Amino acid sequence: MDDDRFIHYKIGIKALDKEHSIIIQNFNDCLEFLKEKKEINNVLEFINKLLLDHFNSEEKFMVLINYPYLDNHVSEHKKLALYFKKKINESNEYKFQNRFLVSVLEESFLKHIDEQDKQIETFYYSIK
Ligand SMILES: [Fe+2]
Ligand SMILES: [Fe+2]
Repeated sequence: MDDDRFIHYKIGIKALDKEHSIIIQNFNDCLEFLKEKKEINNVLEFINKLLLDHFNSEEKFMVLINYPYLDNHVSEHKKLALYFKKKINESNEYKFQNRFLVSVLEESFLKHIDEQDKQIETFYYSIK
């Protein structure tokens, strides 16, 4: 993802932005691997791990700032984590590791940042 596009997904909380950017970078790596006809299941598993670690640290941050929509956000994380697991398992089982799968996962991650994580930003800067 180019810098201009990434700016749109920044939420102004340094540690979380860093984790988001590392996950996005790994999606880009996945697409590069596919171009080179390499296996991507290790990268997908790695993305899945990064995602779960990221959810953990984001949830800790929300607790720290007394984020009022914590429960809802945590349940969105659970849904997204299940979705990732399901898609990655299917892709391993049926061996359809392609651009479409990577885009679907990346889009669902970016949508979460846009719709959920940006609300953390709004709240955080309203109490600062
Ligand atoms: Fe989140
Ligand atoms: Fe996030």
